[in-house]
Amino acid sequence: RVATVNGNGTADLVIVANRLPVDRVTEADGTPGWRKSPGGLVTALEPVMRSNDGAWIGWPGSTDEEMEPFVDEGLSLIPMTLSPAEIEEHYEGFSNGTLWPLYHDVVAKPAFHREWWDSYVTVNERFAAKAAQVAAKGATVWVQDYQMQLVPAMLRELRPDLRIGFFLHIPFPPAELFQQLPWRRQILEGLLGADIVGFQLAGGAANFVRLVRQRVGHKTHRDTIYLPDGRTVRAAAFPISIDFTEFEELARSESVSQRAKQIREALGDPETVLLGIDRLDYTKGITPRIRAYSELVRDGHFDVEDTVFIQVATPSRERVDQYRALRDDIDRLVGRINGDLGKIGRPAISYMHSSYPRHEMAALYRAADMMVVTPYRDGMNLVAKEYVACRYENDGALVLSEFAGAAEELRQAWQVNPYDINGMKATILDAARAEPKEVTRRMRAMRKQVRENDVSQWAIRFLDALASVPHDHGKTVRP
Ligand code: F6P
Repeated sequence: RVATVNGNGTADLVIVANRLPVDRVTEADGTPGWRKSPGGLVTALEPVMRSNDGAWIGWPGSTDEEMEPFVDEGLSLIPMTLSPAEIEEHYEGFSNGTLWPLYHDVVAKPAFHREWWDSYVTVNERFAAKAAQVAAKGATVWVQDYQMQLVPAMLRELRPDLRIGFFLHIPFPPAELFQQLPWRRQILEGLLGADIVGFQLAGGAANFVRLVRQRVGHKTHRDTIYLPDGRTVRAAAFPISIDFTEFEELARSESVSQRAKQIREALGDPETVLLGIDRLDYTKGITPRIRAYSELVRDGHFDVEDTVFIQVATPSRERVDQYRALRDDIDRLVGRINGDLGKIGRPAISYMHSSYPRHEMAALYRAADMMVVTPYRDGMNLVAKEYVACRYENDGALVLSEFAGAAEELRQAWQVNPYDINGMKATILDAARAEPKEVTRRMRAMRKQVRENDVSQWAIRFLDALASVPHDHGKTVRP
């Protein structure tokens, strides 16, 4: 698997992301190995980059071993080391203790620490310097997500010849919340180093343009920002997606069908299976969802003899306090619900704190009559789209939070407000009792939407927009 990347300064397409698409792990026998990284970003970008022979700069996960660049199935991977202090301050601290809650509607309280900010700057500088080193003349560099928001401006300073794109995978908050950030101006200026700043939704792009006008004082017109040096920056929505065909093919495979059957058998062949799959994160609304379902069981609308709720929570950011506390809360809640409502061999909630490969995920999607996705706030939520892609028989009900980015595209889902437990209960019941014809009508429409807007469309749209940026970065085009 390991080969050295040929020299520096040769890559025409470079991704800069906090994580590499693979994580360094220690196998059970103590030997080092690699595993696919968690999260939507990698799921979306990996297929695109493999087919473009790109270079990918990122952190290989929680190790401080220095690693050489290597090539993995046509993709040059350039590992960046984070020291233990940087993992604590840049990754767990500023990225996931400050920006993550701030950008998700402050559903948890963001912490503001000056040392965390300093570390964020240092790490962004190092990633920008590496991109400047590996990018060929006139190359395209695509910077990803909230952990890397200073890279565009730092990189432009080092390499004005590059086309630089930035895409934010998580929500971009309203000005009223963003303004809490002591370093708000630096973040806005960091992003303005890009030619195109991409967001999941038009609302995020509008929030950004408004903040740039108010806080930095640049002239703006619709989605365009006019910088004093004559350069222009475009802010636009590029809703991310999944590899629809890959998921559908996987779902249709004999082994996934078998596994889906096995899963239902292992649960005692219930009539109805409901499913939730999330990273274990306080933005995902796992608690109100489980509470809503348990009340439906308690009130006699569902019976544990013939219905089960499978909840998979993928371990995530386990050293961050709020994530630890959430895990304990969910353990306790599920334990209490199963203690109160379960029967022998029939838990109300079948709970797994574990991450599964794609094959098992597809089998779970195939096994579930209803998928319940209820984040308080989510940039997109690819799990909802994966469920849709796997339901090739046009059956299966999707209950979806109106605060997930995906709700703008998946209009035919049964939409819910996760803060409204009674509303959620009523909608879950509606979805469970819907006529098969109604379920099919909705699923068919959603499948068309995701099929026609898959991840390759997303990447093509973004990269085409970037390719059409003039070489002078818009300096000659004035309003
Ligand atoms: O897709 C959003 C995202 O935050 C990515 O940026 C991130 O890589 C992924 O979720 C998983 O989180 P983490 O990298 O912190 O494990």
